[in-house]
Parts: sequence; structure tokens; C-alpha cells
Amino acid sequence: MATQDKTRKYVLPESEMPSSWYNIAADLPVPLPPPLHPVTGQPLGPDDLAPLFPMALIMQEVSAEREIEIPEPVQDVYRMYRPSPLIRARGLEKALDTPARIYYKYEGVSPAGSHKPNTAIAQAFYNKEEGVTKLTTETGAGQWGSALSMACAFFGIECTVFMVRVSYDQKPYRGALMRVYGATVFPSPSMETNAGRAILEQDPDSPGSLGIAISEAVEVAATHDDTKYSLGSVLNHVLLHQTVIGQEAMAQLEMADDYPDVVIGCTGGGSNFSGLAFPFVGAKLRGEADMRVVAVEPAACPTLTRGPYAYDYGDTAHLAPMVKMYTLGSTFVPAGIHAGGLRYHGMAPLVSHLLQLGEIEAIAPHQLETFAAGVQFARTEGILPAPESNHAIAGAIREALRCKEEGVSEAILFNLSGHGHFDMQAYLDYMAGSLRDYEYPQEEIAAALAGLPTISLVES
Ligand SMILES: Cc1ncc(COP(=O)(O)O)c(C=O)c1O
Repeated sequence: MATQDKTRKYVLPESEMPSSWYNIAADLPVPLPPPLHPVTGQPLGPDDLAPLFPMALIMQEVSAEREIEIPEPVQDVYRMYRPSPLIRARGLEKALDTPARIYYKYEGVSPAGSHKPNTAIAQAFYNKEEGVTKLTTETGAGQWGSALSMACAFFGIECTVFMVRVSYDQKPYRGALMRVYGATVFPSPSMETNAGRAILEQDPDSPGSLGIAISEAVEVAATHDDTKYSLGSVLNHVLLHQTVIGQEAMAQLEMADDYPDVVIGCTGGGSNFSGLAFPFVGAKLRGEADMRVVAVEPAACPTLTRGPYAYDYGDTAHLAPMVKMYTLGSTFVPAGIHAGGLRYHGMAPLVSHLLQLGEIEAIAPHQLETFAAGVQFARTEGILPAPESNHAIAGAIREALRCKEEGVSEAILFNLSGHGHFDMQAYLDYMAGSLRDYEYPQEEIAAALAGLPTISLVES
């Protein structure tokens, strides 16, 4: 915190990369409501998930161990880009004329461009260990699809990606990158699956959604013995793998002799937010520290801020388990905003649970505010952020301006989850003035409630 300190980057040596993941389930004051079978409505056992996931990941999904060792082959690939830098946003601080100290953890240094490889590498490894030869997945923005395609290339697994149609059209080079890594890519909804064909029959111009793409990928895995499914967010084990981010940030802030008053992340399914925040939330739950923790979601898909907390299906065709989460309904198709990775109808059960318990907060800025934040960030810090990450920046700027107004010098830490080099069309549209804000209509919330499974009506 020394005032004369001019440090910008806090860099950890590879030898200080975390060797275990942090499992917040060990520190929860109230256990997480269990996932339920989509047909029977009964709590799921490990065997129910076996057609979709390798047993090692299923065991992580239900584990209550605080620390889970990162296998050496996973650490070996992590070392290609980890530890990622923690950067003091001195340029942004100056532009905002704020007394706040702003730090960001930069996950765009991974070869695929975001935090997503942190779990893709682990998932590919565990699948390979159990003899799986093919993986299917969905992708919204294309960051997750790129990450899994890359990880599959490293571990010699075939990869099929269902990419949400609107993103597929907006970002052809993301599809190209996945193909360079060796993956097969379909726009979703597609004619490849029953789920996709059913949607296209009703709406041939469907822009797609993560819920639909998940249904397609799950269907392929469930109907092929040699194929398993891989999810890029939402599930406990995915959030677990991301906790290398927050653990590193803690060590780096120690180098800076600082500690965050506010921790911020954007939330699509909740994985990068959790990756940064959970080690801090854990310290808070154990009574060792205190801070505010803020999730930032788009106003066009306001799951945490306007959805009910209820059991709902994870996907549109209701093939995936039901989980208790904040949700806008599994059939909700959000407006085609550019932050494609934030267009998910639900939210990670762990993130939902922590919001319900009052341990975290949530805000939902509009698209134009987030792009203004991203452009200001690029002009002051140089990095061009992913449209998803712009939400975290907008949250950090709001906090920094509050500090200015209140005349307090707080430390703000946010996750810059990825770069936006494949998102130039979004920035061109923004600069041309052709983007607009989408209000989420109240009737849609009512429709979402009406479409929830009956179990949630008993529960909520
Ligand atoms: C760069 C980036 N940030 C954030 C997200 C949102 O996902 P999550 O909430 O799981 O981190 C995505 C999803 O695709 C993404 O690509």
C-alpha cells in the first residue's frame, strides 16, 4: 500500500502456482441443495451422472474436501500460461481520478484467450484417464469451445462443439480457431440432434441459446458409449478448477501488501467469478477476513437480480439434471447481446446458494455501460477486454467512482476473464452506435416462473 510504490504487475514464479484446488463446499454454513434427476425428480447419485462424466469429476462434484490436489499432468499444462499476472490498473485509476486501488487478475494470457482452459485442461485429463475418446460440448461466446478444443488436442481426444448460432455468425474466427485445434463445430440449433431439429422445426431462425446448445451436446454424449459431455461452467467441479485464479490473486496481493475490500467478477454460469472470489469468500466464511463480493450480470439476462431461486432444468430439452439456482426458465432465449458467454438462463448452484445466504451481491448493468467501460479500459490499460469481462470492469468502475464520491481509498479486485480479439465486430457495432440496451420485460419473468418444473413450486 506504500504511496511511492509504482509497481504495475505482480508476477508469481511457476514454482508458486497452486498445487491444489480450493473446494468451497468444505466451508459452507448450509449445505448445497442436491441436484435432482430431470425425469424422476429424485436426488441424483453418482451413477446417474456416469453416462455424461468420468467418475473422477463426479466425485469432485460431490466432494466436501477443502483441498483437492491438481494432478501433475494438469499442472504441467497450466505452466504454459500460469500463474497469470495480477495488474494494478494505474492508468484506469488516474482516468477515473479515484482514491481507490484497482487490481485485475488477467486470465486472457491463456493460449485460448480466457480463464476457460483452467477447467478444460482438467476435464480433458480426467476423461483421458478413464479412456474416453470423444467429448461434446456447447459454447456461447466461443471461448469455452476454443479452450476445450485446445485441451482435447493436448490429450488426444476428439472434440465436437455446438456453438450458439448468434455467436457462430458474429464470430466466425472463433469457429476457425476451434477447427485449427482439430474440433468439429456446428452452429446450434443444428440438424445433428433431436433437440436441435425440434427447435428448428418451430423456429428455423432461432438465434440459439446456451440451454439449447447444452441439450444438443448432452444428447450426443448420452446416446454414444464412447462419448462424454463437458460443461464449461455452472457445475461444482468446474468452479473448483477455476479457484487457481483466486489463490494466485491472494498471494499476489500479499506481494502488494494489500487486501481487497471488494471482489468483482462477471457471471454467465458463474465460473470465472467463483474462481476469483471463492478463496476470498472461504476466508470470509471461516471468519478470517471480510470483504464485499459482487457478481455482475447483463441486464438482458438478469438471472441473479430478477430470477426466482428455484429448482430448474439446466438445459432447454430437459436432458440435464435439475439444480436449485436463480433462473429465468430453461426455455428463456435472451436477446442477442454481444456478451454471448453471459446468455445463460440459470446460474451455478454454488453462486446462487451464496447469494441466497447473503454472502455475495449482484448487479446487472446494461450493455452500453459495459462497452463504455471496456473502451475506457482499453484506452487506459491497453488490453482489449472480452465483452463478458466488460461487465466486471463496469462493476469495478462503479465501485471506484463510489470511493471517489465517498472520499475513501478501498482496494478493488476484479477478474479480467478474457481478451476480446475475436470480438471486434461487437466493438465496431458499439463505435458505430448500432448497439442498444435490452430491458428484460416483467412478463418474461412471469413466463419463466410458469415454465418451472413442479418440484420448484413445492420448494420455493
Ligand atoms: C471471457 C469470458 N468471461 C466470462 C464468461 C462467462 O462464463 P462464466 O460465468 O462461467 O465465467 C465467458 C463465457 O463464455 C467468457 O468467454
